Amino acid sequence: MPVEAVVALRDADRPRCDEQVRERMAGTARSAQSTTDAPGPVRVGRDKASIARVYNATLGGKDNYAVDREVFERMQSLVPEVRQLALDHRAFLIRATRFIATQTDVVQYLDCGSGLPTAENTHQVAQRLASTSKVVYVDNDPSVIAHGRALLEEDEQTLFVAADIFTPSAVVEDPTVRSFLDFSSPIALFLLGVLHHYDGTPTPAEIVAEYVDALPSGSYVAMTHFLDPEDADSEVARRIEHVMVNSPMGTGLFRTRAQIEAMIPPQLELVDPGLVQLSRWWPDGPQLRPVAAAQRCALGMVARKR
Ligand SMILES: C[S@@+](CC[C@H](N)C(=O)[O-])C[C@H]1O[C@@H](n2cnc3c(N)ncnc32)[C@H](O)[C@@H]1O
Repeated sequence: MPVEAVVALRDADRPRCDEQVRERMAGTARSAQSTTDAPGPVRVGRDKASIARVYNATLGGKDNYAVDREVFERMQSLVPEVRQLALDHRAFLIRATRFIATQTDVVQYLDCGSGLPTAENTHQVAQRLASTSKVVYVDNDPSVIAHGRALLEEDEQTLFVAADIFTPSAVVEDPTVRSFLDFSSPIALFLLGVLHHYDGTPTPAEIVAEYVDALPSGSYVAMTHFLDPEDADSEVARRIEHVMVNSPMGTGLFRTRAQIEAMIPPQLELVDPGLVQLSRWWPDGPQLRPVAAAQRCALGMVARKR
């Protein structure tokens, strides 16, 4: 089917409830991404948009194809400030990493859904501030596997593993991950910009719980998620969601605050200021520029395991 036919949206097509969105996303989280650690060349498809490449296009990066840029351009035509939402996600990752590297003793990171390499990657931020930091990146996108591995695995303290992050046992029981990270010492688990691309069984809450169970006490969890703010900005959330879910990328759920809070297991204690709009989590300074509606459509948190 031509990309235009999939991406093009008429007002009448807009979904009115989560139900249609769920139906479209059901099962896509795993199948849309090819999981492969198999030997041999990785096939990077140019015909299907991928989460990693659309994110890269939205951030203004160059590692993407026309099919990915079309998804971004369609989102941007409906919500001009959508790039700011992606930039807020990346800025949150950097601030959360800085916090962990400077305010805690944690020097191990498990970054699930690393994305394509960009300007400030987790290992660069962490190792600049705490030189002994070790980072494991996990992703299953063929582009990330093909291009990311070499770039993200820059040194002996950084490792890239191809695995399905929505099967926590495949990550935390992976022998390479186990030989690299010490699971008897605290670990910082990153689930940044990933859970809104998943809707299935086990549930997102069960997936987070399984990861948290595998972590020792004193570990940290950083998480971001698209938000339906259930106010006047909901329309913006639903517009972006509809383009994402109905595009060749196929995923991107804007959940309510209650649905996101339900993913936080009881062993986690939120670090101040809690689960908040991304730009409000320890910003670098006062917010002088106006915050766009799209920026109010995502939440982030850092929490400590008791
Ligand atoms: C939007 S990007 C987020 C990148 C980065 N964490 C950030 O916040 O800037 C989501 C990443 O999750 C990866 N991803 C999605 N589903 C996955 C799965 N089932 N297993 C592994 N990685 C997955 C995608 O390939 C993509 O690179």
